[in-house]
Amino acid sequence: MDINQSLKGKVAVVTGAARGLGLGYARRLAHHGTHLAICDLNLESAQEYQAEADNLVDGSLEATLESHGVEYLLHQVDVTDPAALQKFANSVQERWGRADILVCNAGGGGDFSRNLPTDLDPDSVQSTFERNLFSVFNTVKAFGPIMKEQKSGKIITISSFTGVTVLGDGHGSDYATAKSAVSFYTRYLAQELGPYGVTANAIAPGFIATGQFTERLGAADPARLETWRSLAALRRVGTPDDVINVVDFLAGPGSDFITGQTICVDGGIVRGAS
Ligand SMILES: NC(=O)c1ccc[n+]([C@@H]2O[C@H](COP(=O)([O-])OP(=O)(O)OC[C@H]3O[C@@H](n4cnc5c(N)ncnc54)[C@H](O)[C@@H]3O)[C@@H](O)[C@H]2O)c1
Repeated sequence: MDINQSLKGKVAVVTGAARGLGLGYARRLAHHGTHLAICDLNLESAQEYQAEADNLVDGSLEATLESHGVEYLLHQVDVTDPAALQKFANSVQERWGRADILVCNAGGGGDFSRNLPTDLDPDSVQSTFERNLFSVFNTVKAFGPIMKEQKSGKIITISSFTGVTVLGDGHGSDYATAKSAVSFYTRYLAQELGPYGVTANAIAPGFIATGQFTERLGAADPARLETWRSLAALRRVGTPDDVINVVDFLAGPGSDFITGQTICVDGGIVRGAS
């Protein structure tokens, strides 16, 4: 039995979904018949990595979404811009009059070869926080009222294993701190929205082999990739499906009594590299 068949006809909003995990979440939800509202800063971002471009139907994001036979909206939005997000939320409201699932996925840019806690550049910290933390505040501010009003909804935020455990050498501390705050914010969000029948949970992915991860980080430093692999109890990096499966669960009725949690999807990373 497909427990998520009840998602047919619901409306899912996914930010940063022109490629990578975001597009993977959107496609899985569309597989259940969920209508999609997708935004990204760069709707052509899949073209930056061969593996991501190869994932698209006929090399096109539109053709990929059309292949699922669901209704969709595609907007160029910078999630660090509250006004642009509000405009996007208004369009979703006009089109379907509701928003049932919200995946605050846009973000990234963690650099684990620099950004030690004693050597943080304020401008770089500012942009890391805007992209990874303020973006979540902005997205929830735009779509939360819709869910509150309709008295139902599932919000999924994207933290990182680095926001839960500590990489031993301290690199990437700005990104890790922002992602840690995403988890804690989500606990508060769950408290506010619980009485309205809305759940809010975070996932904390480990090293996941998206096109960007493999081509930018892995190919750039295979030795580091091997170290990262060895950090997980399961001794491998994750696949996009490892993470998509958990978002699928959190979006559907199987998770109706779960809220305020951070679920690590990292193959069991409990120790950082030294
Ligand atoms: N891949 C991993 O190993 C991993 C691990 C932990 C957490 N994460 C998190 O998962 C999320 C997705 O990761 P991914 O690997 O798919 O990344 P990715 O870089 O492949 O995709 C991110 C997408 O978000 C978009 N984006 C970036 N900034 C944006 C902005 N300001 N406004 C709108 N869109 C924006 C990009 O254009 C891109 O299409 C990120 O939040 C990332 O921090 C990923």
